[in-house]
Amino acid sequence: MATLNRRWVYARMLEGQLSASNFERRDEPAPQLRQGQALVRVRLVSIDPANRLYFAMQAYRPQLAPDDVMAGFGIGEVVESTDPRFRPGDLWHGDFGWQDYAVINSYDRHEYWHRCSEGYKESDLIGVLGITGMTAWFGVEEVLRPQAGETAVVAGATGACGSLIAQLLKLKGCRVIGIGGGPEKCRWLLDELGLDAAVDYRAPDMAAALHAACPSGVQLYSDAVGGDVSRAVLPLMGRGGRWYHFGNLSAYGDARPGAPAERHDSFMSDGLRAHCRQEGLKPRFLLVFDHYCRRLEAEAQLARLLQDGRLVAPSTEIAGFEGLPGALIGAGGPGKIGKLNVRISSDHAASA
Ligand SMILES: NC(=O)c1ccc[n+]([C@@H]2O[C@H](COP(=O)([O-])OP(=O)(O)OC[C@H]3O[C@@H](n4cnc5c(N)ncnc54)[C@H](OP(=O)(O)O)[C@@H]3O)[C@@H](O)[C@H]2O)c1
Repeated sequence: MATLNRRWVYARMLEGQLSASNFERRDEPAPQLRQGQALVRVRLVSIDPANRLYFAMQAYRPQLAPDDVMAGFGIGEVVESTDPRFRPGDLWHGDFGWQDYAVINSYDRHEYWHRCSEGYKESDLIGVLGITGMTAWFGVEEVLRPQAGETAVVAGATGACGSLIAQLLKLKGCRVIGIGGGPEKCRWLLDELGLDAAVDYRAPDMAAALHAACPSGVQLYSDAVGGDVSRAVLPLMGRGGRWYHFGNLSAYGDARPGAPAERHDSFMSDGLRAHCRQEGLKPRFLLVFDHYCRRLEAEAQLARLLQDGRLVAPSTEIAGFEGLPGALIGAGGPGKIGKLNVRISSDHAASA
């Protein structure tokens, strides 16, 4: 009996809002291996804002076309191998897609695959010790370069990257203001992350509240979202400020095939541009994979902070392969905090 590979395929071209009708289940037998390959049984799938960009453009990976298996990073176990580099039982991290089984090989481009270090929880391997944690750590170390006493604003602070960046900046002695969506999430930023202030980006007085929370201005800005939040933060920044602009989440809902390419600074007014020019403020973008030469160093430092209890890595897990499209469409729902993952491995009979 052939082993079944359940697959979610990007079946219909995105035209309006992303919906369940863009996806289709198309199961097929698990792939057969050739020389130099390994079969990975996917366990945990990472749901990221970037998944939405895959429909519209080349972002971290080639653009998706209809009939492609939906792309997504994940953690999986090598269950079969024809190459000694891949040992059965090892966990690997990579863009395995929304399916039970993926093939990795020793001769194709594989810079985004890596064997996971042993001894860590899967939710940490996919989050704080994976792309999320690297994005946070490189941003803090290479772009923000915090000094104790500086005021930092972290947009998307309840999210996967932002919750880590906010904590790393606190550990460096900064005064940290987190931006969250709604009163409950703002309370979480204060109570659980110990931030100095929290501002609700959905509240009508967001800009005034931010101004009040930053009496000495803003020296560091971790910007995952652009939009209204950036329009409120940037006027509070002056010469010498560091602006880590690593995502434009507020615009991702409009990303679709054929749409005009989104400029990263499209949220800026002429007045804001003039302010940035006058103050020498420049966004610094960083693509996490460009910095992977430092991945193991970052992993070691983040792991030490976790083990010492100085860093927490919040995550939200949804169970079940069926839940994959809904998890991306609903971004985990209103209660989602930190890294969002879907566990797909424990609910499958694996034969057809
Ligand atoms: N450059 C790179 O290499 C790289 C790598 C990884 C990620 N990224 C980018 O980093 C960003 C964050 O990723 P993530 O994994 O941390 O995502 P995430 O876990 O979804 O967190 C993002 C948070 O942003 C908040 N948010 C959503 N829409 C917003 C809006 N319109 N205005 C203000 N805040 C909003 C939400 O907070 P609430 O839940 O509190 O509403 C959400 O939790 C994304 O843009 C992603 O593409 C870039």
